[in-house]
Amino acid sequence: MIEVKNLTKVFQGNVKAVNSVSFKLDKGEIGCIIGTSGCGKTTTLKMINRLIEPSEGDVWVGNEECHDTDPVNWRRKIGYVIQKAGLLPHLTVEQNISLLSNILKKDKQYMVDRVTELLETINMPYEKFAKRYPIELSGGQQQRVGIARALMEDPPVMLMDEPFGALDPITRESLHEEFIGLNKRLKKTILMVTHDMDEAFKLGDKVILMNKGEIVQMGTREDLTQNPKNEFVESFVKGHANA
Ligand SMILES: Nc1ncnc2c1ncn2[C@@H]1O[C@H](COP(=O)(O)OP(=O)(O)OP(=O)(O)O)[C@@H](O)[C@H]1O
Ligand SMILES: [Mg+2]
Repeated sequence: MIEVKNLTKVFQGNVKAVNSVSFKLDKGEIGCIIGTSGCGKTTTLKMINRLIEPSEGDVWVGNEECHDTDPVNWRRKIGYVIQKAGLLPHLTVEQNISLLSNILKKDKQYMVDRVTELLETINMPYEKFAKRYPIELSGGQQQRVGIARALMEDPPVMLMDEPFGALDPITRESLHEEFIGLNKRLKKTILMVTHDMDEAFKLGDKVILMNKGEIVQMGTREDLTQNPKNEFVESFVKGHANA
C-alpha cells in the first residue's frame, strides 16, 4: 500500500537528511518510524506526502507512483497528522476538521454529519467541542482533533508525525486504545513517527529504526529485541523487550 525505494533528501548546503531509505507497508499495516532527534523521520513522511520533493527515489501509494499525479491530487488520498497537531488557531474545531472538504466544496450537510461522526470517534461530542477554538482545548484534545482532520476525507493511507507526543501516560494510553480500535475498524495503512520505543512496539506491525538519515534495522519487536543488528539497536531496545 505504501512503498518507498531509495528515498533520499539532500537539503541546501549538502545536508543529507535522508539517505536511500526503502520499506513497504501492506494494506492495514501500521509502521512506526523511531530514531534520534534529527535523524530524518519528518523529512521521510513529508517526502511521501510530497510536501518535500525527494532528491532521489520513488514513492508508491496504492498502485500509483508519486510522479504520475500532481501533488494536490496526491495528498487527497493521504491523511497527514502534523507534528504538534498543527491546528489553525483562528478556526473552530469543526472548521479545522472540515478544512480540506471545504476546499473540495463538499456538500454542507455531508460535512456536518461527517464532523459529528469523527468527533464521536475521538470521544469529543459535537455539542461540546465543535464550536471551540484550539486554544480552548487541552494538548491531548488538540492532537485528537488533528487525527480527526486527517480522517475527514477517509483516506486509505495515513501519515502521523508523533500524534501522541507530549501526552501524560493516562491520556496516551486511552488514545492508544482508540487508535488500535480505529485501525481495526477502518483498515487504514498507517505510517507513524514516534520517540517512544514502547509505543512503537505496542502499535507497530513493523518498527523502522533510523539513525543519521538511514534505516538501521526494520522488523517486529522480536526481530529487534532478539536479533539486534548492532549496538545502536541494542541500546535503543534495551529495557523495552516486554513492553
Ligand atoms: N528545510 C531544511 N533545510 C535544511 N535542513 C533541514 C531542513 N529540514 C530539516 N533539515 C535537517 O534535516 C535533518 C532531519 O530533519 P527531520 O525534521 O526529518 O528530523 P526528525 O527525525 O523528524 O527529528 P525530530 O525527532 O526532532 O522531529 C535535521 O538535521 C534537520 O536539521
Ligand atoms: Mg520530526
